[in-house]
Amino acid sequence: MNSPPQPTRTAAVIPAAGRGVRLGPGAPKALRALNGTPMLIHAVRAMAASRAVSLVVVVAPPDGAAEVKTLLSDHSLPDRTDFLVVPGGDTRQESVRAGVDALPPDVGTVLVHDAARPLVPVDTVDTVIETVRAGAPAVVPALPLADTVKEVEPATERGAPERVVATPERARLRAVQTPQGFDREVLVRAHETVEASGEGATDDAGMVEQLGLPVVVVPGHEEAFKVTRPLDLVLAEAVLARRRANDGF
Ligand code: CTP
Ligand code: MG
Repeated sequence: MNSPPQPTRTAAVIPAAGRGVRLGPGAPKALRALNGTPMLIHAVRAMAASRAVSLVVVVAPPDGAAEVKTLLSDHSLPDRTDFLVVPGGDTRQESVRAGVDALPPDVGTVLVHDAARPLVPVDTVDTVIETVRAGAPAVVPALPLADTVKEVEPATERGAPERVVATPERARLRAVQTPQGFDREVLVRAHETVEASGEGATDDAGMVEQLGLPVVVVPGHEEAFKVTRPLDLVLAEAVLARRRANDGF
């Protein structure tokens, strides 16, 4: 009896359906420009830069799928990569699920990468993929923290003093980034098992932890920071300018 072929392709799902409330008024965050190119295009190129990634699934703002398809065809992207666009949902968790549901059967390894992290270097992407392929069910790039972190009793009134509850040992803490990498079956099971509540999960690996499966951290990169607030746009454009200068453009 012949067993079915093992799903061997690696795909990247890019949730890009958020509004970007913390960035302030304007177009959906993923469609805002960084040095003239939409953030989403930078993020798509960052995933397609890995030779291991043969498919990129973009999860577009619910009413923006047509616009995203146009953007993808208007910008130069590697020929070796396939692209799919699906509409997203009200929470990041719903959007990621929409992307995962669109994956073809031959995909065995899945990256989930925030469109809001447009500048992640390809070495970080490759390290995550290699660690999944070596047998880890879930892999997260992360960095040690610069700041000490306090756990507080959150105040109900904005700006009011908050009582400190604990100070976790900084050396044991990591700030997690994307792309997070998964064995496809594990990610699907996590999305089927973990209830969406409130804002939904902001971290896919956290859902795998809830299944009781091991999640490992690999080194992240300072250029994989998330564009969240207006100052992050300034930093992102500075990183692009430095890359240009170093590349001799
Ligand atoms: N995201 C998504 N669908 C949602 C919410 C978020 O696909 N319903 C995506 C965002 O587009 C982003 C990533 O999840 O690429 C990380 O989310 P975040 O940085 O919080 O982006 P936004 O939710 O857009 O920003 P904000 O929370 O400030 O509104
Ligand atoms: Mg958000």
